[in-house]
Amino acid sequence: MSSQQLTFTDNPNQALSEILATRHGQAIIVADTNTARECLPVLACAGHIPAITLAAGEEHKTAESLINLYQHLVDWRATRQTLLIALGGGVVTDLAGFAAATFKRGMPLLNLPTTLLAQVDASVGGKTGFNFAGLKNEIGLFAPAHHVVISTRFLSTLPHSELLAGLAEMLKHALLDTPDALHRMLNAEPCGFASRPDALEMIRHSVTVKQRFVNLDPNDQADRHALNLGHTIGHAIESLLLERNQPVAHGIAVAWGLVGELVLSRMSAGLNGETLYAVARYVRDHYPTCPITCDHYPRLLQLMTHDKKNPSAGEISFTLLSDIGHYHIGRIISAEDITAALDIFRDLTQ
Ligand code: GLY
Repeated sequence: MSSQQLTFTDNPNQALSEILATRHGQAIIVADTNTARECLPVLACAGHIPAITLAAGEEHKTAESLINLYQHLVDWRATRQTLLIALGGGVVTDLAGFAAATFKRGMPLLNLPTTLLAQVDASVGGKTGFNFAGLKNEIGLFAPAHHVVISTRFLSTLPHSELLAGLAEMLKHALLDTPDALHRMLNAEPCGFASRPDALEMIRHSVTVKQRFVNLDPNDQADRHALNLGHTIGHAIESLLLERNQPVAHGIAVAWGLVGELVLSRMSAGLNGETLYAVARYVRDHYPTCPITCDHYPRLLQLMTHDKKNPSAGEISFTLLSDIGHYHIGRIISAEDITAALDIFRDLTQ
């Protein structure tokens, strides 16, 4: 990971033009229909660079989109020296990252993430890939981008739900970091976040936390599992609501999952009540209300049992906190305790 260059800037056009000036050879941009319209015009220096536009949305994170991308790379006569620039959210950075790692056995990649979620999560850490056979990120490999350019310039066009999704991951990073970092996050109003004078600094700090776990465990075998905090319950709620035709953004489900897993942390790992209640208040005040009832518990437990992160069949494993910054990975929790935690989660947030 050490060769990855991270740039935080208010001026992505200048940052990109400086990187392009240091290179010889061709560059190609991969955007989606949203970022081609909203973000590409910001990058005046890229006016002459060919752009490949993918269909936007998680449903297009597929082998078909990847084949389409490879075909364009062939058509543009891309080589191993061609710089692939991924301009978009996690779907674009994951697909372009996989293409860059595999086309002609590898070409350099620059991630220019345009959503808060992609800035603090997908664009760093090297996870690339696509969905297959109905399973998320079923095919993929670890291939970190050579450069990542992160700018608040793109955040002003984001829908509020996208901002909430990114803030949930930042909240998770703060919980894995220090009381000061958590305090700062809990005082960050989602409305107007992108125009806060310290927004770029907060994003930089959050990325540093993620980077720390990635450097400890680049291939996600142990310590990096800490980044799953909130995701076991969050994923189950996300999948349940998708089955019921009430889809919710991944990051919103993660915010709910964080509260649920902090309840479990209080019950089973000794987390103090103050941290749990402060995070629950933030989620209750700023996020939509989670629509689950106790009728949904059996299906939620089934979905958690099938989570691919579990070490063995039939067991449900969590990352829990005993304090801010003190994590415990692979904690197996019984269905009874999870049910009790879901009751408390609903009391605290609904
Ligand atoms: N999104 C968690 C990770 O990159 O490991």
